[in-house]
Amino acid sequence: MAQSTLFLVISIATIVVSAEPTLKFPPGFKFGAATSAYQIEGAWNVSDKGESIWDRFTHTLPDRVYNGHTGDIACDSYNQWKKDVQIAAELGLHHYRFSISWTRLLPSGTPNHICEDGIKYYNDLIDGLLEKGIEPMVTIYHWDLPQRLQDLGGWCNPLITDWFADFARIVFSIYADRVKWWITINEPLIICDFPFNTGQMAPGIIDPQIGSYLCTKHTLLAHAKAWRIYDEEFRPKFHGKVSIANQLLAYEETSPGDREPVELISQLSTGIYSHAIYSKEGGWPPIIEKLFAEKSKTKGYPRSRLPEFTKEEIELVRGTYDYYALNYYTARVVRFARPGEEAGPWPVFGSPELNIVANVLPEWKTTVADIFFIYPPGLRHLLSWLKKNYGDIQMFITENGYPSNGDEKLDDVERVQFTHDHLEQVLLSINEDDVDVIGYTAWSLIDNFEWPEGYRVKFGLYEVNFEDPERTRTKRKSAEYYQRVIEQHALIPIKQPYDEL
Ligand code: BGC
Repeated sequence: MAQSTLFLVISIATIVVSAEPTLKFPPGFKFGAATSAYQIEGAWNVSDKGESIWDRFTHTLPDRVYNGHTGDIACDSYNQWKKDVQIAAELGLHHYRFSISWTRLLPSGTPNHICEDGIKYYNDLIDGLLEKGIEPMVTIYHWDLPQRLQDLGGWCNPLITDWFADFARIVFSIYADRVKWWITINEPLIICDFPFNTGQMAPGIIDPQIGSYLCTKHTLLAHAKAWRIYDEEFRPKFHGKVSIANQLLAYEETSPGDREPVELISQLSTGIYSHAIYSKEGGWPPIIEKLFAEKSKTKGYPRSRLPEFTKEEIELVRGTYDYYALNYYTARVVRFARPGEEAGPWPVFGSPELNIVANVLPEWKTTVADIFFIYPPGLRHLLSWLKKNYGDIQMFITENGYPSNGDEKLDDVERVQFTHDHLEQVLLSINEDDVDVIGYTAWSLIDNFEWPEGYRVKFGLYEVNFEDPERTRTKRKSAEYYQRVIEQHALIPIKQPYDEL
């Protein structure tokens, strides 16, 4: 055994003590890790792959991405996918979540031409995972829209709901015989809110007033159409589960009992992507619908900037879920702005609309990514909030992870701590709050292209050497820790304080 590996094993052995039975996760609880196509695949123009909005964005607006980084090669998973399967197996993952690149499968964005190499790439990956006993969890869309469809208006064009549904049907028809876990769209909030407000993500168009809310409505309709396609055409044969993954921020009270701003912003950022699907009545959260109608009127708009749903659309979207998929990273304390005070700042989604101010508490640890402050109990609070608002639905945590700058190399004790602390909250949620949490997914399996942060910010359980043409993956301490958790199916306690180890 190489000396460094031996050291790693010994140091892990000294920090873990065996798990108490109460720290066990329920039988059948799934542990996984996630990635997405643009962030890892590279091979942006091999064979007949079409151009996506992230190809265009990184190539034409390099100043909007750290050091002009691109996903042209990324982790080269298009060629190195076997290594990803290998490390997923080494970790003992129950599931591996990855996404399909729309333009790798449908180069022009529409189903008139399906790329054989694209079909094969995902076939190989899926079969490779299944051979190792790992369940594939497939995200159909993780932000890499075909540029051609963007040129026609992208998520602001109502026709996108059919374009997406067509794409989803193709994906299901090729892979649904082997894939049982599906996510239609990853984080509509980050597709519709962040880019349209800041221009810092593809397609780089700023239009927070109108574009953002057209996009919101269309992502919900697109998801619903895809879910119904699966439900009618594929479920009877393949019995899989389909959902949409929401990025959720935990909002906490600034002063005890000051719930109103908490509820309001939760309804805007979480409710707006959940109420239509998970509530009994469907449609927009009533409080948000009313607020937007009034605000739009006073601002001189002839109709609400949050486009109304027709009765048919409400019925189309309502109930289109098999579980709730949530991604959790960070939290904020919120309150209403005082007279003369500016609402915001980012990332409190829609805060100017609501006149809400967001802060963090001094005891929350900072990270290299300036919007991520660490607050593990926020995850538990969110799970309870979802149960209270939408009922006893199965909850699947489809992302949770710790950003670093890579200086820690393999000794990522902070990430170990982060993983431990969040899993602890998951157990509390299950055991104390009776929430039906069925799985946890670490973001990310490997370091990858972190959107506007390029390769500066790392989330990997495995380090990737981006200087090396082979893009070597090396196991970090957090991977060792997670592997132990999975093996024992239990939270592994760690000694405190962690950085003294
Ligand atoms: C996204 C990932 C991203 C991660 C960390 C999530 O919102 O789904 O693609 O890398 O956050 O920023």
